[in-house]
Amino acid sequence: MVHMTQMTPSSVVIGSVLQAPSASVLQHLPDVAVVIDGAGLIVAIHPVGSPEADAACAGAIDIVRLRPAQRLLPGLIDLHVHAPQWPQLGTGLDLPLEQWLFENTFPLEARFADATFAQEVWDDMVPTLLAHGTTTAVYFSSIHDDATERLAATCSRLGQRAFVGRVAMDHPESTPPWYRDPSAAKGVAASARSLAAIAALGDPLVQPIITPRFVPACTDELLVGLGELAARSGVRVQTHCSESDWEHASVFDRFGRTDAVVLRGFGLLRDHTVLAHGDHLGDDDLAVVRAAGSGVAHCPLSNSYFANAVFPAARAMALGVRVGLGTDIAGGSHPGLLPQCAMAVTVSRLLDDGVDAATPAADRGVPGSRIDTVAAFHLATVGGAEVLGIPCGLIEVGRSFDAFVVDLDGDHRGALRVWDDIDDESRVFEKIVRLAGLSDISRVWVAGRVVSGS
Ligand code: GUN
Ligand code: FE
Repeated sequence: MVHMTQMTPSSVVIGSVLQAPSASVLQHLPDVAVVIDGAGLIVAIHPVGSPEADAACAGAIDIVRLRPAQRLLPGLIDLHVHAPQWPQLGTGLDLPLEQWLFENTFPLEARFADATFAQEVWDDMVPTLLAHGTTTAVYFSSIHDDATERLAATCSRLGQRAFVGRVAMDHPESTPPWYRDPSAAKGVAASARSLAAIAALGDPLVQPIITPRFVPACTDELLVGLGELAARSGVRVQTHCSESDWEHASVFDRFGRTDAVVLRGFGLLRDHTVLAHGDHLGDDDLAVVRAAGSGVAHCPLSNSYFANAVFPAARAMALGVRVGLGTDIAGGSHPGLLPQCAMAVTVSRLLDDGVDAATPAADRGVPGSRIDTVAAFHLATVGGAEVLGIPCGLIEVGRSFDAFVVDLDGDHRGALRVWDDIDDESRVFEKIVRLAGLSDISRVWVAGRVVSGS
């Protein structure tokens, strides 16, 4: 008698993998069978046609065979999304950050007091991000308990791996009276309630994250309380750090110390803290971030509007800082992370060369700053996983099967084309990173579950 119930039901995905295990290595695994257990973990990878692959297929409850003109890539990890800014995606980027927050962003976020409106936005946003291959998202929600819990529940229902944070902000000068926590104590209590409510969903893929908006928006008392909450609960932290000239200077003026050092003082710079932007982090700050085990969410498109600088991604990586990528929806005006990869490459070239032709070439840029598409994709996958400390980012035994399929032979509504006698696999990869759009992504999995496409 065969005791089938004693075996973990597994599924197999057969295809060719493209991924970036390090910033300088593009890995192509042609024709492999990826074996995934019932919990969504990758338990084996075998060459197609091997006895092991045949045995895995014989015992599988589901087999997906990709076409030769499809590629399997590890899921994208968006380290920085402002969920309630979704309705303003693509608009309003011509104001300075501090003005944009007051005129565009806080009024929109305040509307999420209306849970019905919030649900409508979440039901539109989460499937869209999944369809773009974003298998993990790190969300700033609004200040509202109900909207935040609904965001977490929506991610759970739709299968997105997510970190969801109720935004804490109470500073009477840097927030409007109609959109702030009524006091530091109430802000800390609301954040603590939100941690409990999200944990109560009981979904290991959806976790809370402690979210002071940024130092200028928070009183000392709130920052102390949230640091204590982080220490007590062990829950990860996210915030903005040294984003723009104004933000960096306002923290320095208030404390006489840099943003990173101030956050450390409040106990908010912890292992796997996600620091959005970080453009103005100096080398000393980067050392502080590294020592804490925190990481940076590099948001190159948003930075081009709001940051007054380019984040030195190559330098941060060379200094051993954990770095991943973020869209910063809606400070960044595109929902997908592949365009952020392309943008990260582009802005690194601008930083490397400099931008003002009136300055002599030798003095114009910061040599050594450039990164390529492999490094950028590494940041969007492995880099993000390292910032968060999650077992994702690579199609590798022991990691979760979070992945997406790109069609090279799709309906050609976009510009992704492969010329067989011209494009080797590294050019195919480059084209995917720079050109693949929504219509080229045909299926997305999180923890072995199909969450977009069919
Ligand atoms: N700093 C504080 N809040 C925000 C925000 O919503 N977006 C960006 N880009 N920076 C911020
Ligand atoms: Fe942001």
